[in-house]
Amino acid sequence: MIASLLKPLNEPILDWTRQRVWLIGASSGIGAALAQAMLHAGATVTVSARRTDELAKVVGANSNAHVVALDASDADAWPVAMAEALSLMGGLDLIVMGAARYDPVHSWDFKSTDIASASKSFDLNVVSIYRGLACVIPYFLEQRRGGIAMIGSISSYTGLPRAMIYGATKAAMNNLAETLYFELAPKGLAIYLVSPGFVKTPMTSGNDFEMPGLMTPAEAARAMMVGFEKGQFEIRFPRIFGGLLRFISRLPYWIRFSILHKTTRM
Ligand SMILES: NC(=O)c1ccc[n+]([C@@H]2O[C@H](COP(=O)([O-])OP(=O)(O)OC[C@H]3O[C@@H](n4cnc5c(N)ncnc54)[C@H](OP(=O)(O)O)[C@@H]3O)[C@@H](O)[C@H]2O)c1
Repeated sequence: MIASLLKPLNEPILDWTRQRVWLIGASSGIGAALAQAMLHAGATVTVSARRTDELAKVVGANSNAHVVALDASDADAWPVAMAEALSLMGGLDLIVMGAARYDPVHSWDFKSTDIASASKSFDLNVVSIYRGLACVIPYFLEQRRGGIAMIGSISSYTGLPRAMIYGATKAAMNNLAETLYFELAPKGLAIYLVSPGFVKTPMTSGNDFEMPGLMTPAEAARAMMVGFEKGQFEIRFPRIFGGLLRFISRLPYWIRFSILHKTTRM
């Protein structure tokens, strides 16, 4: 009983040379760094996003790397891209879905004209995950193994300033990942919820506030590799800031809101 409680929630990935990985949203930032870390570890990788010129720069001349164009908001494009990735790699062991938009807006500035960007964020950050799942779940169930990783955010843990769109899309991911784990882990699939803190990427380049625990994309990729290698369900980083926000998010609302008002000075 105790031994089973101490077991990692997913099978640890110990040998990257046996992994064929499809990374969505890998033309910059965290996805690009993760593709490079996985290639360095010996994995076979297909990188996808809209900007194929950037994808080509990410993987360079590595013979274990492939580029497949994908607009994750285009439902019809998913099965086509998946078929291409399967044929290029000869199969699939792990998908990492990280394509996302970030629309920071204060609720007091939110107008009817912002609904279009909120809708685009929900479509890309949430609905496109379902598009990916519809492709890979049947495939992984058929082969009785496979890993599904979704990049969420620690900003999903609790309401935060300017996160009324982005935070809500990422909060959806937490519940979705838990449901997938409940239902699919017993069928042999690995499910990962990646929860990054602040990472210095094009996505955060416009942030005009202090970003505690800011990491480089390479550090974020390293933390993800370690999480996969340990078989973690939630891969959260950085350890201290991520753990602190997690802790605060579990406190009763009256104390949680008070701490967050003081620390964010809002
Ligand atoms: N940076 C942070 O502090 C931070 C913190 C928490 C969570 N995250 C999450 O980490 C993930 C990666 O973010 P990042 O910071 O690395 O941002 P980024 O550098 O802006 O990367 C975003 C990626 O998503 C791709 N993408 C955007 N729209 C797409 C579409 N319609 N179809 C396919 N791909 C699309 C972009 O490629 P194209 O433009 O070429 O399509 C790019 O490769 C996101 O899920 C983000 O929410 C980031």
